[in-house]
Amino acid sequence: MIVALLNQKGGVGKTTLALHIAGEWARQGKRVIVIDADPQGSALDWSEQRSREALPRLFGVVGLARDTLHREAPELARDADHVVIDGPPRVAGLMRSALLAADVVLIPALPSPFDGWASAEMLKLLDEARIFRPQLVARFALNRCGARTVIARETAAALAEHDPPVLAARIGQRVVFADAARTGRLAAEIGANSSAAREITALSAEIEGLMP
Ligand SMILES: Nc1ncnc2c1ncn2[C@@H]1O[C@H](COP(=O)(O)OP(=O)(O)OP(=O)(O)O)[C@@H](O)[C@H]1O
Ligand SMILES: [Mg+2]
Repeated sequence: MIVALLNQKGGVGKTTLALHIAGEWARQGKRVIVIDADPQGSALDWSEQRSREALPRLFGVVGLARDTLHREAPELARDADHVVIDGPPRVAGLMRSALLAADVVLIPALPSPFDGWASAEMLKLLDEARIFRPQLVARFALNRCGARTVIARETAAALAEHDPPVLAARIGQRVVFADAARTGRLAAEIGANSSAAREITALSAEIEGLMP
């Protein structure tokens, strides 16, 4: 399965969730490859930080920030159980290519009532991709949900009325994700039984359930 984390909005958690979902599946013994489709190369940076710290390799990270992604990703997918694409912010050509490569598209969004609307451009590209790939599955994934769950619930209700719907699994606002990004680790390696680790497990399981 090829899962792409896409949102033209920056800083919504594409890289954080891509690495953590990949890490969760790798921990379960699956062969996982992350494609860093962002010219900023944040997933590659994380991976390099990880090798500098001499931490065990969980999955490969391949830099493929080019418009031929949709032709190259299926080749990589042949040698893996799952491929996770960490998408770029803003770059339309790359975004189109990632949409053509993916079986499942996850759209990370912050639980602000306006965040779903902020990715209108991305939803337009999704509609376009569905002309070629009508079986493409897409879901919103709410990230950085704070203690003010009422706002999150309102957002979830608003998003559920639209296509794509929102996943039941939510990711909270957790400092451990920032520590993980900085140190080349995953939340589960910092705190195995942390809320963050449990949320990632639930999210990854729900995504696997979407497999075509
Ligand atoms: N659930 C969370 N709790 C706390 N911090 C988070 C959470 N998710 C992401 N972050 C932090 O928010 C920042 C942005 O996250 P991330 O880099 O994953 O977003 P992105 O969508 O990949 O951004 P870009 O569009 O720049 O690639 C990072 O510093 C990350 O550590
Ligand atoms: Mg990123």
